[in-house]
Amino acid sequence: MKNLKKTDSKIYGLVKKEIERQKNVFTLIPSENYASSAVLAAMGTPLSNKYSEGYPDKRYYGGNEFVDQIEKIAIDRAKKIFGAEHANVQPHSGSQANAAVFLALLKPGDKILGFDLISGGHLTHGSPVNFSGKTYNFRHYGVDAKTEMIDYDEVEKIALEFEPKLIIASTTSYSRKLDFEKFSNIAKKVNAYLMADVAHIAGLVIAGEHPHPFPWCDVVTSTTHKTLRGPRGGLIFCKEKDEVNLDGKLTLAQKIDKGVFPGTQGGPLDHVIAAKAVCFLEAQSKNFKNYQKQIVKNAKAMAEEFEEQGIRVVSGGTDNHMIVLDLTLFGADSKKIQEELDKLGISVNRNAIPNDPKPPFNPSGIRLGTPAITTRGLKEKETKILAGLVAKFIKAPANPKIKLEIKSQVQKLAKKFPIYKEIKI
Ligand SMILES: Cc1ncc(COP(=O)(O)O)c(C=O)c1O
Repeated sequence: MKNLKKTDSKIYGLVKKEIERQKNVFTLIPSENYASSAVLAAMGTPLSNKYSEGYPDKRYYGGNEFVDQIEKIAIDRAKKIFGAEHANVQPHSGSQANAAVFLALLKPGDKILGFDLISGGHLTHGSPVNFSGKTYNFRHYGVDAKTEMIDYDEVEKIALEFEPKLIIASTTSYSRKLDFEKFSNIAKKVNAYLMADVAHIAGLVIAGEHPHPFPWCDVVTSTTHKTLRGPRGGLIFCKEKDEVNLDGKLTLAQKIDKGVFPGTQGGPLDHVIAAKAVCFLEAQSKNFKNYQKQIVKNAKAMAEEFEEQGIRVVSGGTDNHMIVLDLTLFGADSKKIQEELDKLGISVNRNAIPNDPKPPFNPSGIRLGTPAITTRGLKEKETKILAGLVAKFIKAPANPKIKLEIKSQVQKLAKKFPIYKEIKI
């Protein structure tokens, strides 16, 4: 950081402020986490200088003898932690991973059945404002109006009628387990590929805290920076053989690799691939498994606390790392709540609830998750305290005394559970 300060004091100053913000604020955004210092160190290396278009031992540039070794280690570790036949560690992000899979397996205009955004899906699963919705012909399944959980009979009904070439099982804001076996039975009936997007739940899957997408899915996409706690990036796993399109020309693994490069990306981010390798090593440890277990315990404790406080949790609870709160009863302005809580040192994420009558920019709910606070070391007791503070604010958002009290408790708790003590700037 010393050199950064000397060269560009403006950017240095802002980076310093952001590090301080991360230290002082409790991140309850379920898609965020704190990568280890080892992961961060790998990212800040001159590996960023290298061009390595292609794959290990088949590059379009010279000088890749060390980068090849790094990528091979990342691939081997990824396959090991996920029990996958094939891994591609090059996608720059979760969205890029999804784009590569669609390109690999489909033609523009082909039919995809995805989870709708309002019930828990992601933008790249067919939103009309995203490349996915603009390029492919999407239909969506949602959740049952009463249980707010996926109704697999309904998914099957839509699939039989629509006959998609690809079905996506995923969650961005769905807090229940995904039943990949049921999805697979449906996909087989219509001869569709089944893709799981485990961007959020990858860490839970690896630790056995969520059912595994294999052998049920053909392809699995992920991010590496959420529960997996690695660098910002994407990842694809797949079966070696294509069991859906038996044209015999390319294996599924070859199609997916071509979908990433040259299909949707140029040179890989070698510094990020090195950091992914470090993350995959960390994910093999007993500590990582315990961490994932605690994430789920904390999320359940958080859901319990909100229910006790009379704030409705969508679907009545959680099986994973996140919950969605329905703030309709409080007539709440979720955008304002998000902004105000940020000022008090608690970072949450406004979010739609199933069948939300309000627009996505200011929806009826907020989404909370426990991956980041669990990295800080919070257990059930402290998670409940934090949830209690959020509840207090939701119930009295205009009370200045309550705001002061929340801010002071948050500051105390942040000091007790520090992050990045070793990062001195
Ligand atoms: C299920 C799912 N897929 C894909 C993505 C996209 O990941 P990225 O932001 O890395 O493009 C997200 C991000 O939130 C996600 O939740």
